[in-house]
Amino acid sequence: MFSLAQRGNTLFAFLVSVLFCVLGAVALSGPVLLASAPVGPPHIDVAKVLVKQGRRGGYYDYSQPVTEMAFVHFNMVADLTPHWNWNTKMLFVYVVAEYSTPAHPTNQVVIWDDLITAKEDAEIDLRNQLSEYMTSDMGNKLAGIQANLSLHWNIMPHVGILTKERSGSVPLVFPKVTK
Ligand SMILES: *[C@@H]1O[C@H](CO)[C@@H](O)[C@H](O)[C@H]1NC(C)=O
Repeated sequence: MFSLAQRGNTLFAFLVSVLFCVLGAVALSGPVLLASAPVGPPHIDVAKVLVKQGRRGGYYDYSQPVTEMAFVHFNMVADLTPHWNWNTKMLFVYVVAEYSTPAHPTNQVVIWDDLITAKEDAEIDLRNQLSEYMTSDMGNKLAGIQANLSLHWNIMPHVGILTKERSGSVPLVFPKVTK
């Protein structure tokens, strides 16, 4: 006959199987829910770009070479709320400037980022947002280079795999150095 321990063991194994099935269903539902609620393209426009000369550690840090630094003011409206579902834990959003230089064909610089942990905050509306400064490391030149800005986001689920998406591509030309 079955002892109480055997019955308990069977019940426990059954509950563990149920738990795995539920977590599996949640994990699989993630990509389906994301695909069924697409996000429209963001609206990004560049309000002002300045290129200045400076040193990475501050102007009087003589251990660093003088380099061109770009300061980008941009506006961005993006609604990522469709990507907020019961399996969304948080969104990591970032704006990337991509450009080519003779020495490095592909450069990607994150100029702004944010961690969104609530659905209300997934409606992004930035006005005249100033970037972190960016520097071109090779040759220390940025003026005249053409770049593109795009919005990227990673969706971190409660259960399942991380999804990465990107949208938008807005041109940006680095102007001459402002003295
Ligand atoms: C920027 O976007 C334009 C148009 O999509 C493309 O032709 C160009 O190669 C892009 N530049 C970079 C550096 O990604």
